[in-house]
Amino acid sequence: MPNPPVRLNAEEMRLIREHRLQSVSDKLKAKAQTTKPKPDAPVVTTAGPFGGSVSGPFQAGYDERAEPVVIRSQSLGIINDLHVPVHDVNACNAAVTYLKKAGIDTLILNGDVVDMYSLTRHGRDARKYGLQYELSTARRELENLRRFFGDRVKIYYVEGNHENWWKRYMRNVARELDEYQSLADTLKLRDLDITYVDDGMGIQVGKLRVIHGHEISGSGVYVAKRKLDKAKTNITFGHHHTSQEWTQTDIHGKQVGSWAIGCLCQRTPEWNRFSGYTLGFAHVMFNNDGAFEFHNKRIIDGVVR
Ligand SMILES: [Fe+2]
Ligand SMILES: [Fe+2]
Repeated sequence: MPNPPVRLNAEEMRLIREHRLQSVSDKLKAKAQTTKPKPDAPVVTTAGPFGGSVSGPFQAGYDERAEPVVIRSQSLGIINDLHVPVHDVNACNAAVTYLKKAGIDTLILNGDVVDMYSLTRHGRDARKYGLQYELSTARRELENLRRFFGDRVKIYYVEGNHENWWKRYMRNVARELDEYQSLADTLKLRDLDITYVDDGMGIQVGKLRVIHGHEISGSGVYVAKRKLDKAKTNITFGHHHTSQEWTQTDIHGKQVGSWAIGCLCQRTPEWNRFSGYTLGFAHVMFNNDGAFEFHNKRIIDGVVR
């Protein structure tokens, strides 16, 4: 004969529910203790109390992080170290005429475009010319460049160490101004549709990093090797006013290269009469996957070689 149904009162039902919940909770805890973390599980971070992405006791300080500007190009021209107003007019004209004929879609003005002789710390002849002359000559040449290449060529202007001098001047000498006046604003680059790239990590185009050169310290005889030793990735730069190339292959067979691009300034400046500078520029053609063909051009006797 079956047992008669047991009737429970409300208090008894509550006790049973609690017991079931407790037993489920105990099982889950036991499972968690026996489950080992997966070795390839992603590291989960929680926001720290002061806005970082990793939890911990540190608070944020001054933010010095820098990232490159990332652009795309199929046919890229790079010119650097014009040092206007002491640019070599013939070399400049030879370089941009070659690049225009090559059909570039993007031009990088890769630093030291303006000499800023007026702001040097190395001592200068104040009777020569002043800052206004340098700025107005630079503006004139930038207008000429934009007119020469037309609206369809994108132009970027990477800050070089000589453009740095402008920042130093504005911060230290012209502090009485109400507002910091950037070089980009002073040269009215926006009107010319020229994008100024602040001092930092340069421009990444496909698999090639473009920097002015002062960002990676160290000079010496073979700067192309020196820069690659530090960058460990495809890199090109000016700053040293010489044309060089260095390539390396790692143990996996991956090859990387470094290219120093010649300058477009006069080679007998007051501060370095026997300079040994090499005149040059670069034309780089990219595949869709970012791989590239680098043409490190020299200008000899006004002819591109
Ligand atoms: Fe330079
Ligand atoms: Fe430089």
